[in-house]
Amino acid sequence: MSVRRVLKMGDPILFKVAEPVRDFDSPGLQALITDMFDTMAALSGAGLAAPQIGVSQRVVIFGVEANPRYPDAEPVPTTVLINPVIEFLTQHSEEGWEGCLSVPGMRGLVNRCTHLRYTGFDQHGAPIAREAHGFHARVVQHECDHLDGILYPMRLKDMRLFGYEDTLFPEM
Ligand code: NI
Repeated sequence: MSVRRVLKMGDPILFKVAEPVRDFDSPGLQALITDMFDTMAALSGAGLAAPQIGVSQRVVIFGVEANPRYPDAEPVPTTVLINPVIEFLTQHSEEGWEGCLSVPGMRGLVNRCTHLRYTGFDQHGAPIAREAHGFHARVVQHECDHLDGILYPMRLKDMRLFGYEDTLFPEM
């Protein structure tokens, strides 16, 4: 289908609470998901939320195999997750560097829960229920935040640990 333009931080659509999907298996939903995968692949992203391409619906995709943006990341299954719900399974959290296609060229250190369960639906309306740890759990939290109008810089605890990736990580 097509690689779509990714909205950047500052666009008000990114700060809206997205609407639940009610009609699964609609051609519009399938086209949206195809465009999201094309866009994520073109930009080597680990995940993408529909609001990032201007569609304020509760649809996220993610998946990591070998990703040049995340060379040390463990694999995350390629997933379409619609109307997601996250349940935290631990109080424990850890800090990790995050980036976002809507905040290009930057990274920030964000604290995230390390163990959670997520539920939701795939693109055909079939239920999904999984537990996730570590990087997988981080990606899910980051993408689902987009559906509530939250970008990772809004979760930074220390602005000194937010900056340009070519300066923070000159070796990359
Ligand atoms: Ni993002």
